[in-house]
Amino acid sequence: MVEEVGPALFDRAFAADPYPAYAWLREHAPVHRAVLPSGVEAWLVTRYADARRALADPRLSKNPGRHSAAEHATGRVGIPGERSANVMTHLLNIDPPDHTRLRRLVSAAFTPRRVAEFEPRVRELTGRLVDGFAGRGSADLIGEFAFPLPIYAICDLLGVPAADQEDFRRWAGMMLHTSGKRGGVGRAVKRMRGYLGELIHRKRGDLGDDLISGLIRASDHGEQLSEEEAAAMAFILLFAGFETTVNLIGNGMLALLRHPEQLARARAWVAAGDEAALTRAVEELLRYDGPVELATWRFANEPLTLGGQRVARGEPVLVVLAAADRDPARFADPDRLDLGRRRNPHLGYGHGIHYCLGAPLARLEARAALGELLRRLPDVRIAVDEAELRWRGGLIMRGLRALPVEFSPE
Ligand code: HEM
Repeated sequence: MVEEVGPALFDRAFAADPYPAYAWLREHAPVHRAVLPSGVEAWLVTRYADARRALADPRLSKNPGRHSAAEHATGRVGIPGERSANVMTHLLNIDPPDHTRLRRLVSAAFTPRRVAEFEPRVRELTGRLVDGFAGRGSADLIGEFAFPLPIYAICDLLGVPAADQEDFRRWAGMMLHTSGKRGGVGRAVKRMRGYLGELIHRKRGDLGDDLISGLIRASDHGEQLSEEEAAAMAFILLFAGFETTVNLIGNGMLALLRHPEQLARARAWVAAGDEAALTRAVEELLRYDGPVELATWRFANEPLTLGGQRVARGEPVLVVLAAADRDPARFADPDRLDLGRRRNPHLGYGHGIHYCLGAPLARLEARAALGELLRRLPDVRIAVDEAELRWRGGLIMRGLRALPVEFSPE
């Protein structure tokens, strides 16, 4: 058993503001053995230098199949339903050389250029979503904006026909709103995965310009992605790019609404069309209160020492990105939101070979989303008492259930 020392972790106060607890850990127990809400014990890594090193350490494996303790841990907190839906072999669960090969194949299809060409479509989507509530004077920025945006965006990119996109919205809703009730999540994952398998099969005979066609076409030294691999890849793009983007927009808007002087700076950049300043602002919002609180699971392949702590073979390690990105040893005045921050090597998208593949898309969506909201809702403010804001449970992600706002109607 682990002796509980230091601040309470994973209770309601922690969910609302985990940063004081992380500051304590960084200072007093930088690699800390914690009991997770599921009962599983894992090492939490909270200092920036240790976190960055751990993310790139090949001795920390992503493959839970190698260790029975690891199987036990991810069985409870991995992608819900992933075993039943047979989506285990995706990028975040494998090591080189398989990871190297799959990542190269998907990178050939999911290129920064494809994302850049997608910008007009993302702008159209953000505009249409804001049209839905701009005349009303109130909205829930999660449910009506941050939630549908990444679903429609990734469906469009993948090449899911418009007529089927409402199914995805429903399945994604089941995944988000039933977190904790694993049956519903598992069913939604299974349906999404089944649909993608069929879509890939259909597209094989009729390739187009979309990302799924690109995945089918991708080949590497004569090797192609199997249909199974392509479906797992499409699924992980959806899964990894969905709740993360919802929370980047939600947490980002909340941070702006709580810091009027920073909000005023962002508004001025939007009005001036200063995309470079807005790009920097999004990076700072990601550092300050990013959507991925902890990087996904890693397991020690061999005994190792991390931040002065011995970690035994097979033990789970969780890198706390939210703690690392507020480390005063790396960032000046780390608890201050400063949208103009210049040197900002945050770990919000991870580091090393698993660095976020969707970062260009996430950046584009966040920039377009904040730009549209600030332009169209000039006096937007939080519509409830801040104590009433509720955070979604769950270990890896950090995000609000709802963000009710009011503003002068258009
Ligand atoms: C990996 C963050 C959006 C696809 C990661 C990792 C982080 C991250 C921290 C590394 C996890 C680890 O090492 O354990 C984010 C954030 C996002 C975002 C903060 C939005 C704000 C997206 C989007 C997509 C995407 C939009 C795709 C459409 C992926 C994939 C990986 C990944 C495929 C696995 C890469 C690999 O293992 O090689 N992301 N992500 N992400 N992300 Fe993102």
